[in-house]
Amino acid sequence: MNVVEHLRDRLSQVRDPELGASIVELGMVGEISVDSAGHTTVQVALTTAGCPLRSQIERDVREAALSLSEVSSVELVMGVLDARAKADLMKRARTIAQERAPFTSIPLQTPVLMIASGKGGVGKSSVSANLAVALAKEGLTVGVLDADIWGFSLSRLLGIEGEVQARGGKMQPLERRFGDGSIRLLSMGLLANEDEALMWRGLIVQKAVAQFIEDADWSGIDYMLIDTPPGTGDIVMTLARLLPQMGQVVVTTPARAAQRVAARSADFARKSNIRVLGVIENMSALTCSCGERHALFGSGAGRALSEELGVSFLGEIPLSPAISAASDEGEPAVVHENGDGPFTRLARRIVDDVAPRAGAQGCSARMLDSINRALREAPQS
Ligand SMILES: Nc1ncnc2c1ncn2[C@@H]1O[C@H](COP(=O)(O)OP(=O)(O)O)[C@@H](O)[C@H]1O
Ligand SMILES: [Mg+2]
Repeated sequence: MNVVEHLRDRLSQVRDPELGASIVELGMVGEISVDSAGHTTVQVALTTAGCPLRSQIERDVREAALSLSEVSSVELVMGVLDARAKADLMKRARTIAQERAPFTSIPLQTPVLMIASGKGGVGKSSVSANLAVALAKEGLTVGVLDADIWGFSLSRLLGIEGEVQARGGKMQPLERRFGDGSIRLLSMGLLANEDEALMWRGLIVQKAVAQFIEDADWSGIDYMLIDTPPGTGDIVMTLARLLPQMGQVVVTTPARAAQRVAARSADFARKSNIRVLGVIENMSALTCSCGERHALFGSGAGRALSEELGVSFLGEIPLSPAISAASDEGEPAVVHENGDGPFTRLARRIVDDVAPRAGAQGCSARMLDSINRALREAPQS
């Protein structure tokens, strides 16, 4: 592949947040040029000029382009699709939606965030649990899939236990309310005991994970969070195949060594065409009651990694005894965060900025309506 092809490939990871499909597949990316110094120009045509999601798409395109080492700067030439191109785009969007729809009860427009790190013990599960609860406290319904088959922990962390029932041949995730919203959880921990799960390998595990997506009823969720086991490419690939909208959020600790491992996991994601949405630094400096900061695990790796990957730095979660203590009680620490705390801020950042909820701001979705109307009214050519 030459640079331009490479770049187009990278840009195919950028999705129109409302149509849920790749902007390349949708025909929104026009000419691309890269000069010998890496200065890059990309033409992007939007559905409408005043699209509220414009800045998000611009930023995503910029990030995706800059994630290639051959690209040093990006100039975006933004345009608007003409009526015919819009009609084409909507047709393509509908076909893509139809082709992919039968697989799962999770619409392409529902943001899916995979929490990954490359190694265990950095707090993926703690971040998943607390972030899920923070999103629920914002009034959202959050699907949580614990895809860590061997090291499942989310039922304990979230205090959700019980027997998974099937209705209409579909597993029903177990639900618990938090604030105005709720969490719906499926985890191997709810289905099998630890010894059984430990005996599973390879294909069986991939099948189990696929069933959690295909044979479960996730209808009605606003977000989906997936906690993944470290270093398991196969599971991630299975998830990516079933959930093409899935993006990866990388968790690292402040230590340089953790940064390197996390970078590998992001690299794997990109090679598998999974978008990297941002970096969270967990176990950041602890501020004691005397006001002094203690950076027990070093500092700065999260921000450095986000810069290295050319993605957003989503925030720091301080090392806090409350986080580990609370999780043992099935009551994630964020339950006690009122209004403003690291997980609440993280949740808001995700809703406002990183992965806005489908239809929340409406430009393509509204447009789909008007295009359908126009097509019905226009004389067939
Ligand atoms: N910010 C934090 N402050 C204090 N302890 C934490 C924090 N994040 C995670 N922990 C603790 O670190 C350990 C590993 O976290 P866990 O979420 O299980 O990591 P992973 O899922 O990446 O293996 C757990 O005992 C957890 O309670
Ligand atoms: Mg874990």
